[in-house]
Amino acid sequence: MKFGVLGYGKIVRTELAPAFAEAGHPIVAVGSRSGQRPEGFEGSVHASYSDCIQDPEVEAIYIATPNHLHVPLSIEAMQAGKPVLCEKPAAMNGADFQKLKQAQAASGRALMEAFMVQHHPQWERIATHPWGAHKLLHTSFTYGPRLDTDVRSKAELGGGVWLDIGCYGLWACYQFGARQLKSISGEFREHHGCCIHAQVTLHFDELDAQIEVGGLHFRQQALTLITDRERLQVTRPFNPIGETINTYQTDDELSQWQDDANQYARMIQYFVEQADSGQFLFQERSALIAQWSDEIIKTLK
Ligand SMILES: NC(=O)c1ccc[n+]([C@@H]2O[C@H](COP(=O)([O-])OP(=O)(O)OC[C@H]3O[C@@H](n4cnc5c(N)ncnc54)[C@H](OP(=O)(O)O)[C@@H]3O)[C@@H](O)[C@H]2O)c1
Repeated sequence: MKFGVLGYGKIVRTELAPAFAEAGHPIVAVGSRSGQRPEGFEGSVHASYSDCIQDPEVEAIYIATPNHLHVPLSIEAMQAGKPVLCEKPAAMNGADFQKLKQAQAASGRALMEAFMVQHHPQWERIATHPWGAHKLLHTSFTYGPRLDTDVRSKAELGGGVWLDIGCYGLWACYQFGARQLKSISGEFREHHGCCIHAQVTLHFDELDAQIEVGGLHFRQQALTLITDRERLQVTRPFNPIGETINTYQTDDELSQWQDDANQYARMIQYFVEQADSGQFLFQERSALIAQWSDEIIKTLK
């Protein structure tokens, strides 16, 4: 499948361009505001995102712009008849998510939020395990301060750590079975209208969760799940680079396992295999994460 990429920034340069190559699905066109050719790229370069969407050689669109453009560009691409793989968060609030959902249904084109984390083999194993009762989930994801010029520092572009990486903690809640959110407490710290640190406690019918995200601390991530009979520690739960090492412990067992895979390439492969379905892939997951995120922002901001 031949892809057009909208917004050629850091995630494309570092992860997605190599992943498209590894998956064997070429980027044939780029939409980039400057119209500048990315280093080493030999396909078409369009100075307008719309022109890239309309390019007849482009069979599917991958969107990697700042967050505020995800919904309008996804809708434009689906209306142009192209399936869409869009970076997270697919929508910045519940109302925008509803617009996206309606546009997807009307267009009949496949849409998938680019939660690459889903496609790492460590989660395939974790997903099939029969977990015990009283699930308690802790997730933590931090990175260092960003310049004021960074898209993550600009509220009007959908910046802030919550919209950037809070979705991973919510993704983990969903992954361990959360569906019904009962209560929210915690704290959001902001700088220039952007969340720079959040500590969120969530009670679901199915589990309790504590999610911490921050843009002031050393780059790290971690996930622990505790139940009445076991503990799981995932050392790189969200964007593992290279080998992961996970630890599982009960009264009788202490085991570790390792996985290594390019989750971005696997995500692209999955999307291509499903692109003719015309479905909103993982729609329930995306809908719940958008809804919970919206409720959390409204409660804590
Ligand atoms: N899945 C993951 O692992 C992962 C990791 C990081 C980021 N992301 C997501 O990917 C998206 C892009 O993140 P990034 O880190 O690649 O950001 P980035 O380096 O700032 O790149 C964003 C690109 O968007 C385009 N753009 C359009 N309007 C813009 C504006 N007003 N200001 C600045 N840039 C604008 C620019 O591309 P052109 O100049 O070429 O048009 C820019 O290079 C975000 O939605 C983020 O949540 C996902």
